[in-house]
Amino acid sequence: MAVFNIQVNGQDHQVDVDADTPVLWVLRDQLNLVGTKFGCGIAQCGACTIHLGDTAMRSCSLPISNVKDQKITTIEGLSEKGDHVLQKAWIEHDVPQCGYCQAGQIMTAAALLKENKSPSDEEIDTAMHGNLCRCGTYLRIKAAVKTAASM
Ligand code: FES
Ligand code: FES
Repeated sequence: MAVFNIQVNGQDHQVDVDADTPVLWVLRDQLNLVGTKFGCGIAQCGACTIHLGDTAMRSCSLPISNVKDQKITTIEGLSEKGDHVLQKAWIEHDVPQCGYCQAGQIMTAAALLKENKSPSDEEIDTAMHGNLCRCGTYLRIKAAVKTAASM
């Protein structure tokens, strides 16, 4: 075990965990931030996507020791009141079905829009293709990303 100082959603935290503990479990088990979901655990589904700095990362496969001084943002910290432009677009398009994958979808889309305010269809497909949705909400996700980009 070792002590790590991390900043999550603008708040400083100190956690005492094994160095190879995935950030996903630090968020969920230590900090009670359960919006970030466990899907596959092997960086293949995107359910656990967070931002490390401005980059979308799979938190299930990111050891806490790799975070260093980079800021973590989770779905809970994307906007204070849940009114991020993507969250508004998600509501407008009624995107979720079961909802399980959606935090990861939104975090991936948010990282895309941070670096590209007006992505093409192809750029949206490329950015989102690693985020799986077993309910098949892909068309609504894409429509919502486009709406968010236009807001
Ligand atoms: S749980 Fe992390 S990518 Fe699937
Ligand atoms: S909404 Fe059910 S897995 Fe995506």
